[in-house]
Amino acid sequence: MKPFIFISLLLLSINGISQDFTPNYEESKIPAYELPPLLTSNDGKAVGTSEQWMDYRRKEILSDFEKYVYGKIPEGDIDIKTEIIKEKNALDGKAIMKEVKMTFSGNNQEIYMDILIYLPKIKNKAPLILAYNFNGNHTIINDPNISLTTSLVGNNKEFGITNNRATEASRGAKHNRWAVEKIIDRGYGLATIYYGDIDLDINDLSDGIHALFYKSGQTQPAKDEWGSIAGWAWGLSRAMDYFEDDDDIDESKIALMGHSRLGKTSLWAGAHDQRFAIVISNDSGCGGAALSRRRIGETVWRINTSFPHWFCDNFNEFNNNEDALPVDQHMLIALVAPRPVYVASAQDDKWADPKGEFLSAFHAGAVYKLFGLEGLPTANMPEVNEPIMKSVGYHIRTGKHDVTDFDWEAYLDFADKHFGN
Ligand code: GCU
Repeated sequence: MKPFIFISLLLLSINGISQDFTPNYEESKIPAYELPPLLTSNDGKAVGTSEQWMDYRRKEILSDFEKYVYGKIPEGDIDIKTEIIKEKNALDGKAIMKEVKMTFSGNNQEIYMDILIYLPKIKNKAPLILAYNFNGNHTIINDPNISLTTSLVGNNKEFGITNNRATEASRGAKHNRWAVEKIIDRGYGLATIYYGDIDLDINDLSDGIHALFYKSGQTQPAKDEWGSIAGWAWGLSRAMDYFEDDDDIDESKIALMGHSRLGKTSLWAGAHDQRFAIVISNDSGCGGAALSRRRIGETVWRINTSFPHWFCDNFNEFNNNEDALPVDQHMLIALVAPRPVYVASAQDDKWADPKGEFLSAFHAGAVYKLFGLEGLPTANMPEVNEPIMKSVGYHIRTGKHDVTDFDWEAYLDFADKHFGN
């Protein structure tokens, strides 16, 4: 793709559409709605045990999310090559930094994904947090040893990025969002990947991971096939494949975290791939943790119009038609059960509907109960900055749509609690 096309498409992707849209933020204006039942199968059977949940209800819900929301991963074989590119001391010697390149090829095309890994120097295999980043691995911390991404990135005057290529000046540009040292000091590793390695975040699914799987003559996913979110989720599972082979990493203790569109991605990846031991959604909003039927802030129509490439085409059937959706997002969170799941909101992030994020997490608790586990205790939101940590965790913190040290502290506490660290 030519860079100038990318720039204009990226602008489109960031600014969304110009069509008039007045989001509703008033609870009193939410149309009456009923959530699809978690514990009744599609043919009306009651689901009363964890075995029944695992044997059929979970499968039905997963398949509905595939068919109507995120899209199925097409069948097909691609080649995967994994290489450790670098291994160095980092953070004044208290950590090891590794770069791992996974190259994917199919249909005579090749893409790669660079996994940047920081590991604490501990005796045992390290538990680890895996999270995508938005701007390139080199932006999470100012470490000259990190390779600049060679994938296309968004232009940015401040960092001298004019031709969609990463610059030295953008090293560490997003360090505020990444508590790397805190994570290491708490005994966890951190792995991150630039999401654009898997699929550029533009309304074009002719390249990236999708292109490697197309059948002969196909240039677009079918209506029920994957959009970008499912593509990014696929990439997280491939990183998990690598962790299973790395003797320094405890693959049974991988917590998946994501912010915003990447929070939607971490929920879908964690729902799909049960190898992830904890799933964390940071401010994921519409199409993530927030209930679609509340229609507060961003709606299904709005997200499908601004970001047509994120979901499968079938999701458009539910534009201004949320009540027809066979699922709602509490069911996505429930798919993580019995593994711990954490949903976080920010008070000023009205667009993502904090209450809708909370209610999803609350309702998912019914499935945790089947496993004898505790969900959120009441349907009333907690006070701000007061995390609740059961098998379902939740907090709403003060401040805006972002990832802060407060968020990281909560995630590490939650991981300590469940991993027994
Ligand atoms: C937009 C979009 C959200 C998304 C967010 C982000 O605001 O409407 O759905 O979560 O971008 O990813 O930052």
